[in-house]
Amino acid sequence: MTPSAAIILAAGQGTRMRSRLPKVLHPLAGRPMIEHVLLAVAETGASPAIVVVGHGAAAVEALLEDRAGTLTVRQTAQLGTADAVRVALDQVPAGTRSVLVTMGDAPLLPGELLAALHTEHVASGAVMTLLSVQVADASGYGRIVRDPTGAVTEIREEAQLDDATRDISEVNAGSYCFDLAWLCEALPRVETSPAGELYITDLLGMAVADGRRTAVVTGHEADVAMGINDRVALARAEVVLQRRIAERHMRAGVTIVDPASTRIDATVEIGQDARIEPGSTLLGHAIIGDDAIIGPNAYVADSRIGPRTRVWASVVEASVVAEDVEIGPYSHLRPGCEIGPGCRIGNYAEIKHSRLGADTQQHHFSYLGDASVGERVNVGAGTVTANFDGSLKHPTTIGDDVFLGVDTMLRAPITIGAGAKTGAGAVVTRDVAPGTTVVGMPARPIQLRRRRAATIAEPTSQPGGSPTPHDA
Ligand code: UD1
Ligand code: MG
Repeated sequence: MTPSAAIILAAGQGTRMRSRLPKVLHPLAGRPMIEHVLLAVAETGASPAIVVVGHGAAAVEALLEDRAGTLTVRQTAQLGTADAVRVALDQVPAGTRSVLVTMGDAPLLPGELLAALHTEHVASGAVMTLLSVQVADASGYGRIVRDPTGAVTEIREEAQLDDATRDISEVNAGSYCFDLAWLCEALPRVETSPAGELYITDLLGMAVADGRRTAVVTGHEADVAMGINDRVALARAEVVLQRRIAERHMRAGVTIVDPASTRIDATVEIGQDARIEPGSTLLGHAIIGDDAIIGPNAYVADSRIGPRTRVWASVVEASVVAEDVEIGPYSHLRPGCEIGPGCRIGNYAEIKHSRLGADTQQHHFSYLGDASVGERVNVGAGTVTANFDGSLKHPTTIGDDVFLGVDTMLRAPITIGAGAKTGAGAVVTRDVAPGTTVVGMPARPIQLRRRRAATIAEPTSQPGGSPTPHDA
């Protein structure tokens, strides 16, 4: 049996974050905080998920507007967590029996714990079931007060503590399951606290006073309760999420040499027997193939890296890299690159919005932009596509088996035919026919230069440039 509806409180200002961004939109492991909460709620099957928004409402609504099964409702004045639940009640479908309530600033709560909360709620017949945990430092949390028999009697907020309750280490995680009928009847009875807020936590004492049944589920890990109220907590939550993400990948067959120095977004996919070396960052929709080696010190964002490919101390953004490629050290694939199988890129190569065919090599410091490069091309050290004329970008097309000598400048738009060669230092300003060798500045076919040289100089004089046998 699933709870029929869930209410997620996300309207608070989050003053302690000291941020222009609404608290629940702060990213954690590559996702806005609220998305972690919604994914956990989705695991319980509760529907709809009603998100109470207020501070920065438009931005939160924009994030959630196309999300299936999710509604937003505005709390115009942030009068407290009990008031936030009240404004959401109108959206709860008629006939709903139990309602799950959780906090938008509690992104570490696993869905299974929320599901356990609901299961216990139904089994116990309680009107209010809450989630508690034992923590080492309870400051900032509501404390769970129990009587000598162990029965829960109330939740005390920080401002309501006295000497007898201050040292309580069992705290309120901020997630509850309510009987809807009782909740609707009790909410209007919540009184404004001395701090000026309507506390949802007062409902527990009220249920006890009403002689109604209450229940508690206790989480075993302290982390799950973490409410993100400031950026210190945000960083702690990131550490917890990173540990969980790394453990999930390692259990699935990925080697992560040093999880503490590795950052992997929750959205990243990694194949079996891939190896993530220290200091590496994998972000967004990065997909890493089987047996790939990433790092040390690699940064891969929103890119697909093929099986057995190695990315070593390099940056790869929004690109697709095939299998058996070597990138780095110290190379940069900017967005829009497609790298064919077996390519070798770097040291110190930069590529932007370009396609490289299979087995092409760009071994040394070199720039390719807006280029379509064939298979088995050798891009000599220092080769540059001059793709920008000051106002427009122009394409460069390089055929299969082209050999670009060191320091070749390609003035785009330009096409180098299959099997063509350029001499060292060639400045290529015109298209080059397939199989032709061009040399010099501006580069011209080598036969033409030889003929010209023969007419104006000694018959034995040498041409002004020659193709290099190789680029290193
Ligand atoms: C709350 C609980 C505390 C619990 C802790 C767990 C109350 C009174 N206290 O404290 O017992 O230990 O969470 O993390 O509930 N919100 C609204 N509208 C409002 C006020 C808050 O939507 O008018 C939202 C906030 O955006 C936030 C959540 O409710 O997502 C909790 O508010 P917050 O101010 O963070 O409460 P805590 O002090 O953390
Ligand atoms: Mg909080």
